[in-house]
Amino acid sequence: MSTNDTGKKDGIVHVYDDIQEEDNHLPNWWLAILYGSIVFGFGYWLVYHTTKSLPTPTDEYLTDVSALKKARQQASPASEDALAGLVKDTSALEEGQKVYASTCAACHGPNGEGLVGPNLTDKFWIHGAALADVYKAVDQGFVDKGMPAWGPVLGAEKTRKVTAFVASLKGKNLPGKEPQGEPVE
Ligand code: HEC
Repeated sequence: MSTNDTGKKDGIVHVYDDIQEEDNHLPNWWLAILYGSIVFGFGYWLVYHTTKSLPTPTDEYLTDVSALKKARQQASPASEDALAGLVKDTSALEEGQKVYASTCAACHGPNGEGLVGPNLTDKFWIHGAALADVYKAVDQGFVDKGMPAWGPVLGAEKTRKVTAFVASLKGKNLPGKEPQGEPVE
């Protein structure tokens, strides 16, 4: 190394106690990584945390889980959707009606107007009017209230069909047993 005007060796900016301080430039590759990381970090923060224009892995996970739950629910033969399909299916309703006549009429009246069991044609429901509620009522019964569990007796298929038939009675409002439970519009 040569000596410059200030009497120091080239590249040495400060000498004290024989310690020589140099001022080397940071290498460009190093600076590129530094500034690149800053720009990337800012972009990431903007996209994922501020504008939320892309889903984070947590969001993606939660979306997948709820899609899976929904798919499982829809695949279940006792789901609201599956039962709603049966209510529109006349042959299923006819079979449901046969099951009703032989199994349910004794307590709920020949036309669903109620006898020992509640009127199934009015808008009052003790255990809920949703198709899934009716299915559960028929499937599991309320043994302590005098409504047997029909699922094990009839099997899933007939239970679904008689549920659809009961749902088709809704709104007929036949005069019969007095209203029980809560009104459901
Ligand atoms: C032995 C008599 C009996 C038979 C047979 C019977 N039920 Fe019932 N059912 C009842 C009684 C009693 C209740 C009311 C239970 C309560 O008070 O919680 C009831 C309640 C219900 C409910 C709920 C009504 C509401 O207001 O939430 C539905 C739905 C129902 N039965 C459908 C059926 C179907 C369908 C069948 C035939 C597969 C059937 N039941 C057979 C006695 C019977």
